[in-house]
Amino acid sequence: MKAKNIRNDEFYTRLEDIEAEFSHYDAFLKGKSIYLPCDNPYRSHFFTYFVQHFNRLGLKQLIATCYDASFSQLSLFEDYDDNGALISKPKTAYQAVINEVKAGQSIQELVKSKVNTLTLLDENGDFASEECFLLMKNADVVITNPPFSLFRSLLHLLNQLDKDYVLLGPSQAITYSESFQLFQAGQLHLGVTPFSSGLDFEVPRGSPFDKERDGLFYKSVPIAWFTSFGVNSPPQKLQLTKSFDPHCYPKLDDNEAVINVDTLLDIPKDYRGQMAVPITFLKVWDKHDFELLGKIDKAMVGGQEKFTRLLIQRIKK
Ligand SMILES: C[S@@+](CC[C@H](N)C(=O)[O-])C[C@H]1O[C@@H](n2cnc3c(N)ncnc32)[C@H](O)[C@@H]1O
Repeated sequence: MKAKNIRNDEFYTRLEDIEAEFSHYDAFLKGKSIYLPCDNPYRSHFFTYFVQHFNRLGLKQLIATCYDASFSQLSLFEDYDDNGALISKPKTAYQAVINEVKAGQSIQELVKSKVNTLTLLDENGDFASEECFLLMKNADVVITNPPFSLFRSLLHLLNQLDKDYVLLGPSQAITYSESFQLFQAGQLHLGVTPFSSGLDFEVPRGSPFDKERDGLFYKSVPIAWFTSFGVNSPPQKLQLTKSFDPHCYPKLDDNEAVINVDTLLDIPKDYRGQMAVPITFLKVWDKHDFELLGKIDKAMVGGQEKFTRLLIQRIKK
């Protein structure tokens, strides 16, 4: 494979970002079984979080599966089995099944306890593989930060299964046809962390990074949390000061009825017609003030193509 074709999926979510979001989901997760389909139990802070909160949430079960090609440096299956023999299978796809968590247990102790298991998968740990699909089907809730390139297919799978989920994804995933349709239909909600927040993800040494802290490397990515649960995401307050001036707001090339607004602060406070605005509008969208009419994938303004736009209109009061 040529280097440029190698996909870098190893972006690890920080525990503090998971805590900030999941402190709002207790009521949805109590007593549930949770499946983490893209999560190496030794590496994923989603796993850490749900182990730490297993008893408080009264979880029925926690399962994490790990993809074969996941971060080989930290493939901790180079471990000894109960008879002291080195597990020599070169695969790194495995699953941890947690039924009980005792206070103070390390992950090593946890997976070695009699009621929990850490076993190799038969297939490669692809979430779409038959055995992971079955785990997904049987779980109450599926939670993860999947490879961003596979976000669409995981969301599609979850909707086919009519499964509850909480996914971390790139903020532009809201513009994918299926996500946007579900969002408009009120079946997909944005999480509590403000839409399009730039979160720092830990990346393996040698990958492109923005920051280095304590010997670890981080890359910042604008993200959103996408969930089937109706979590309450209060919009950020936007103070609009501009008044509409027809000379300052060009119309879309192919639709004279819609004005284009490039930055949120430029949304005219007194305009009643349709506006094409950047998707970051979702950060500040107050449903009592604006209606979300749709999205425009290729908005042309003065012969120039804009990034995907949301079509909005002030609600008549
Ligand atoms: C963006 S990382 C996030 C890891 C972890 N969920 C977290 O948030 O820290 C996505 C992970 O999914 C794994 N992965 C890649 N393709 C996969 C697939 N088809 N099925 C399941 N996991 C996959 C990658 O190896 C990587 O470890």
